[in-house]
Amino acid sequence: MKVTIVGAGNVGATCADAIAYRRIASEIVLVDIREGFAEGKALDITQTQTTLGFNTKVVGSTNDYTKTAGSDVVVITSGIPRKPGMTREELIGINAGIVKSVAENLLQHSPNAIFVIVSNPMDTMTYLAFKSLGLPKNRIIGMGGTLDSSRFKTYLSLALDKPANDISGMVIGGHGDTTMIPLTRLASYNGVPVSQFLSEDALAKVAADTMVGGATLTGLLGTSAWYAPGASVSYLVDAILNDQKKMIPCSVYLEGEYGQSDICIGVPCIIGKNGVEQIVDINLNDAEKALFAKSADAVRSMNNDLGSHLA
Ligand code: NAI
Ligand code: 2OP
Repeated sequence: MKVTIVGAGNVGATCADAIAYRRIASEIVLVDIREGFAEGKALDITQTQTTLGFNTKVVGSTNDYTKTAGSDVVVITSGIPRKPGMTREELIGINAGIVKSVAENLLQHSPNAIFVIVSNPMDTMTYLAFKSLGLPKNRIIGMGGTLDSSRFKTYLSLALDKPANDISGMVIGGHGDTTMIPLTRLASYNGVPVSQFLSEDALAKVAADTMVGGATLTGLLGTSAWYAPGASVSYLVDAILNDQKKMIPCSVYLEGEYGQSDICIGVPCIIGKNGVEQIVDINLNDAEKALFAKSADAVRSMNNDLGSHLA
C-alpha cells in the first residue's frame, strides 16, 4: 500500500511519521516544493526505523511526481498554515492555486488514488478538488472532522475527568471556528449520554473550547497545530487502506443529504477501501439542523470566493 503526502511541513511530516510508525502503509512518498526538504524529512523518519521497529519505506521528493506513481491514497497538506489572528478563510487565495495544481499532478500519476484534502480552508479546498478533478465523490475526502472530534473528546474527557478513549462523540459541519458543530447531545461516556454527568453550562463550554480548538493552539504555538492534525490524517488513511468501515465525520460532496447540495462539508461517513462508502444521515434535532444550515451557508459563501480557480 502506497501513500503520497504533498507538503512535508508540520502536518505532512507528522502524518508521514504516524503512518510509518503505525505500519499503516508499506511505502510513503513525501513531496515538497522546498529543495531537499521532503528528502530530509523522509531520511529523518527512516532513521527511526531501527529504534521504533518498523520497515515502512519513506521516500522524499522535491516536486518530482513520478515518484508518487501508483499511490493508493494521496494526501494534500501543501499550502500555508494559519498565523495568529488569521482565519482559515484568509488562506483561500494562496492555497487554492497550490491545491489545484498539486491535485492535478497527483491524479496524472495515480489515476486510481483516493484523495484526502487537509489544506485550509479545508471544506472549500475539498470542493475545489472535487470540481477540478472530476472524480466520483467517494474518492475526495476532506479531513477536519476527525481532528475536531478528537479535540471534542479531549475536552469532554477533561471536563468529566475520565479517559478520553471511553468517550465517543462527533463534530460535523464546516471545519471553522464558527461553523463546526460539536454534537453534545449524542456524545457519550461508554454509551451513557454525557449530559448525565455534565451541566448544560459545562457542555456549552466544552463545545465552545472545541470550536476554537485550532485557534487556541495557533495562539500558543505561533502557527497551527500538527501533532493532532497529523495523527488525524493517519487515522483516516488507516480506515481507507485497511478497509475499516469506521464512521468518521469527513467533508464530502453532498447531493441532498442533510438538505444540502453542491457543497463539501463535514458529515458522518463510513470510510473503507473505496473511500467514502456511505454518508450516514443521522437524525438531527431542529436546533442542530438550523446550525447545520447556517454552517453550510458560511462554507458556501467561502466557496464563492474561489472565483477563477473553479474555471
Ligand atoms: P507548513 O508550512 O508546515 O507546511 C506546508 C508545506 O507545504 C511547506 O513545507 C511548503 O513548502 C509546502 N508547499 C507549499 N506549496 C507547495 C507546493 N506547490 N507543492 C508542494 N509543497 C508545497 O504548514 P502545516 O502546518 O503543515 O499546514 C499545512 C496546511 O494544512 C495549512 O493549510 C493548514 O492550515 C492546514 N491544516 C489543516 C488542518 C485540518 O484539520 N484540515 C489541521 C492543521 C493544518
Ligand atoms: C486546525 O484546526 C488550523 O485547521 C487547523 O488546527
